[in-house]
Amino acid sequence: MSIEIRNITKSYPGYTALDDISLSIRTGELIALLGPSGCGKTTLLRIIAGLETADKGSIILEDKDTTNLPAREKNVGFVFQHYALFRRLNVFDNVAFGLNVRPSSQRQSKSEIRDRVMHLLQLVQMEWAVKRYPSQLSGGQRQRIALARALAVNPKVLLLDEPFSALDAKVRLELRRWLRKLHEDIHVTSIFVTHDQEEALELADRIVVINKGKIEQLGSPQEVYDHPANAFVYNFLGNVNVFQGRIRNGKVVIGDHPVDTPHLLDGHEEKNGQAFIRPHEIGVSRIRSSESDLVGKIRDIRIMGSQIGLELETTGFEKLIEAEIPRDTWRNLQLNRGDEVFVTLNKVKVFTGDYEI
Ligand SMILES: Nc1ncnc2c1ncn2[C@@H]1O[C@H](COP(=O)(O)OP(=O)(O)O)[C@@H](O)[C@H]1O
Ligand SMILES: [Mg+2]
Repeated sequence: MSIEIRNITKSYPGYTALDDISLSIRTGELIALLGPSGCGKTTLLRIIAGLETADKGSIILEDKDTTNLPAREKNVGFVFQHYALFRRLNVFDNVAFGLNVRPSSQRQSKSEIRDRVMHLLQLVQMEWAVKRYPSQLSGGQRQRIALARALAVNPKVLLLDEPFSALDAKVRLELRRWLRKLHEDIHVTSIFVTHDQEEALELADRIVVINKGKIEQLGSPQEVYDHPANAFVYNFLGNVNVFQGRIRNGKVVIGDHPVDTPHLLDGHEEKNGQAFIRPHEIGVSRIRSSESDLVGKIRDIRIMGSQIGLELETTGFEKLIEAEIPRDTWRNLQLNRGDEVFVTLNKVKVFTGDYEI
């Protein structure tokens, strides 16, 4: 089912939580709403679900204006951040709940319900807990049950509000991949709210980056990561070095170092800009590869897994530069703390103007 969000605005006394949000979500899409805490993600999800009313705007589900419909009339499944299970029902009955309360004419037989519930518990890897009560489960396990329960009734739209944020990193990663696969199988139109950029990048077909109740950018993970629309998005999507720079004669100058950019910037007026360089877009070498290489010294080395983090002190830059290089490169170069290296800035993106981060 497609979702059309039109000009949704929501204010609390003295505070605009959502400021004219419009967004079209295609049938079968998995969209991530990504933004910092307090930016309005939950509010938007609750409005779509019919748990909250907007001051202005409308929510269209598959050509039907559902703005004023209550949640129970919307065939929407949801898993919220702190959505409690029914404490007095065991896991089986929690997952079966939506199936058991259907009018008898639509209700499946007991054995069909049982099969469906067991299938869902298997999907969320919780079959072993079928007889347990919510109080006997960890927060993460409860969220998996909540997900199974939301899916039980075959919702046309699935809304997930940071469902994995209580899980430890490894389980969280597994469930993220599992959810992606599940989505490819069942293709239910889904909105996944998260403040974790990695989760959004890995999971979503498209990402909506939100800040202070407004959409900053909408695009595929690759688009928003490789072509951030502004400084906020650049900063929010992953590690980045930020330097204060000047734009002089169409060139970017950081400290006293002119930086190679793919093209000259417009205008000759000198102005301030912020230069963004991602750690993995920095090359490190023992030999100079270009005139514009910086001369740097390795201040610190961090083993991060397949990548190695380097802290580089360079002449002309006011701050240390953080670089990330593949482990193999690091091994081949035999780099040690204190070594002198040549530093290549492969991709520098500059934003000018008064954009506030
Ligand atoms: N019921 C409410 N009354 C007053 N302010 C609220 C209420 N619900 C949310 N807010 C405020 O609206 C903003 C957005 O909240 P929320 O949608 O929960 O953000 P997010 O989910 O992105 O962290 C926050 O500043 C929050 O404090
Ligand atoms: Mg929230």
